[in-house]
Amino acid sequence: MPLLEIKNLRLEFGSGENAVRAVDDVSLSIEAGETVCLVGESGSGKSVTALSIARLVPSPPARYVSGEIRLDGRDVLKMSKVELRHIRGGVVSYVFQEPGASLNPVFRVGNQIKETLKLHKPRTPNLSPSDRERVAKPEEGHSRGRTYNEEVIRLLKLVGIPAPELRLKDYPHQLSGGMQQRVMIAMALASQPKLLVADEPTTALDVTIQAQMLDLLRDLKRRLGMSILLITHSLGIVGDIADRVAVMYAGQLVELAPAKELLRRPLHPYTQALINSVPGLGAETQRLRAIPGNVPQLDALPSGCRFHPRCPKAQADCSQKVPGLIEVESNRWVRCPYWK
Ligand SMILES: Nc1ncnc2c1ncn2[C@@H]1O[C@H](COP(=O)(O)OP(=O)(O)OP(=O)(O)O)[C@@H](O)[C@H]1O
Ligand SMILES: [Mg+2]
Repeated sequence: MPLLEIKNLRLEFGSGENAVRAVDDVSLSIEAGETVCLVGESGSGKSVTALSIARLVPSPPARYVSGEIRLDGRDVLKMSKVELRHIRGGVVSYVFQEPGASLNPVFRVGNQIKETLKLHKPRTPNLSPSDRERVAKPEEGHSRGRTYNEEVIRLLKLVGIPAPELRLKDYPHQLSGGMQQRVMIAMALASQPKLLVADEPTTALDVTIQAQMLDLLRDLKRRLGMSILLITHSLGIVGDIADRVAVMYAGQLVELAPAKELLRRPLHPYTQALINSVPGLGAETQRLRAIPGNVPQLDALPSGCRFHPRCPKAQADCSQKVPGLIEVESNRWVRCPYWK
């Protein structure tokens, strides 16, 4: 059984005639230890889909219309508030683009990580006062578990922060953007999640730091064996890290494939256009091309295939027929009848 299985998820904002469907019939699974990249232009529904995994899209205004989200074997859409609190952090953790969204400027970073550790500490009754100051994990040579301080240092080391004993006393503004990002990842890892969702974690960083961030994610995946859902605008980074790629357009998945195959031979015209818009990815002879037009507004979706007004391969019936997501080859799903 996959760690995460989203089936036919539909989510709307607003109600009645004004309702817009930000996620429309999305099905996506992630195996234990697998890294999946969710790619698409701004407004295509990547963040809303990712936040739905822990039911983090506030409802209202959102309405989970239909579908199923099975995380670690349980249906998230049927969970109580207490169960939801347990899976947020305990099973799935999030890292967002903006350090400001996760780091509190008035607390030292070490203390912020420590709070997360305390929040997710398993409840054990009758702890002695000194054991209350420890992470309840007696394995790994620590008969009584590490102290919180030791665990904070271990996490900061894990995410590649030099001199963690000193850095844990820093306030967020004393750290560079890249270091803040690492602290956020350390916080996300503190609860030992099975799935790490990283939503555009590198867009705000310069290119060198971006590359280091991706190295770190890859390293963590290998060392901790967790699953990762990485959200990005660009197909440029997925080849280095993803096992599979899901491409989203206007609230729908349009292509789902193993990363290498998708990069080598994209089947959906939108994926092809995305690849041609990334320097160094498209065919050598082809000039870089921006995709003409914009992602359609959700309240003014084109009829038929949502991509047809921008599609260089559109046929006469593309404006009428709504294409389904079809498995056209083993493990390759495409929402386009003219993919060949
Ligand atoms: N709270 C909300 N109320 C109403 N509409 C919303 C809300 N949150 C998101 N949306 C709409 O849902 C759609 C999908 O948004 P989402 O944030 O998932 O896009 P995205 O693919 O993550 O884009 P980006 O790359 O810019 O982060 C957008 O049209 C957005 O305007
Ligand atoms: Mg987003």
